[in-house]
Amino acid sequence: MPADTLPPAPPLRPTRVLSGIQPTGRFHWGNYFGAIRQYIELQSAGDAYYFIADLHALTTVREPDRLRSLVHDAAIDLLALGLDPARATLFVQSDVPEVTELTWLLMTVCPMGLLERCHAYKDKKSRGLAADAGLFAYPVLMSADILAYDATLVPVGEDQVQHIEVCRDLAGSFNHLYGEVFTLPSPRLVAGGGRVPGTDGQKMSKSYHNTIEVFEDLAAQKKKIMRITTDSRPVEEPKNPEGDHLFDLYSLMASQSDTQRMAELYRRGGFGYGEVKKALVEAANAFFADARARRAELEADPDQIRAVLADGAARAREQAGRVLTRARQACGLGRTEASPTVPGKKP
Ligand code: ADP
Ligand code: TRP
Repeated sequence: MPADTLPPAPPLRPTRVLSGIQPTGRFHWGNYFGAIRQYIELQSAGDAYYFIADLHALTTVREPDRLRSLVHDAAIDLLALGLDPARATLFVQSDVPEVTELTWLLMTVCPMGLLERCHAYKDKKSRGLAADAGLFAYPVLMSADILAYDATLVPVGEDQVQHIEVCRDLAGSFNHLYGEVFTLPSPRLVAGGGRVPGTDGQKMSKSYHNTIEVFEDLAAQKKKIMRITTDSRPVEEPKNPEGDHLFDLYSLMASQSDTQRMAELYRRGGFGYGEVKKALVEAANAFFADARARRAELEADPDQIRAVLADGAARAREQAGRVLTRARQACGLGRTEASPTVPGKKP
């Protein structure tokens, strides 16, 4: 077929990156290397939206003052770590009430079975713990978070991929019933951080109490690092750096040449783990030094944080409002010009 008779190409959807992070604790190295670092890198891939998922956190944080301060700290931490509000829209989830309304619309097309299969709820049930309806419906709120902004690309850790599938299912069902309302997103598995080990060698996680926080007080951080568990092999014995959690942590923060040198030291033997720990303390200090300095400046200027979040919320609401109007109209909510505002009365 000659080029001039080809059907028009579908319009290219610009990339819109979106992700959320729960303020359920201060960010630790696992959160940074496993998620936040990649989110920040992606802010230049296109239009980006990042939010602090305080509504999701309500299913675990039950102390109001603590939640407020975790949200505030999360905003400062993200900005200090490189999130640039000139390039990305940073906001707090609950500042956009359009999302909770959208959650309800999606709930009406969501089969129970879909949520029963979701792991956050299933895991809690299998441990014999009582789950609340918020935890059960968590993936629907997450779907609304994504669909409200017409996001195309959602960077997440492996544990969240199932929720993106739920989001695609719900968007597909709604579109099937009511027309093309929602943009279907794709997950983008964040790579590079892998599984960051904690102080005991297991995956670093708040639930295992083995975390090292990014902006922890330096003396407290050093103490934790010096207490990282190691084996009791003699100093002189050569050791394999691969799979050694202390080495893994070091290699996340040291330069390539220092990592190489450390690997050689491991293979040669004749060193104590104490030396590696000291090197890790130094590498971590150097790696996060700029972010710590930026954080101190931001912390001293709460008005700036408020302004960034207010501006982010305004931008986010504008976008979410457009999508919500589309969804409401499509499913028959709200009145059109032809339908009276008061039953039986002409408009
Ligand atoms: P926690 O396990 O401490 O409760 P979250 O589940 O709140 O952490 O983590 C938020 C995101 O940070 C996760 O989706 C995951 O991508 C990333 N993450 C958390 N811990 C690690 C880790 N140890 N290694 C790699 N990535 C991690
Ligand atoms: N559930 C995600 C987590 O625990 C956080 C989150 C909430 C999110 N809404 C989202 C992530 C929308 C991506 C997109 O990590």
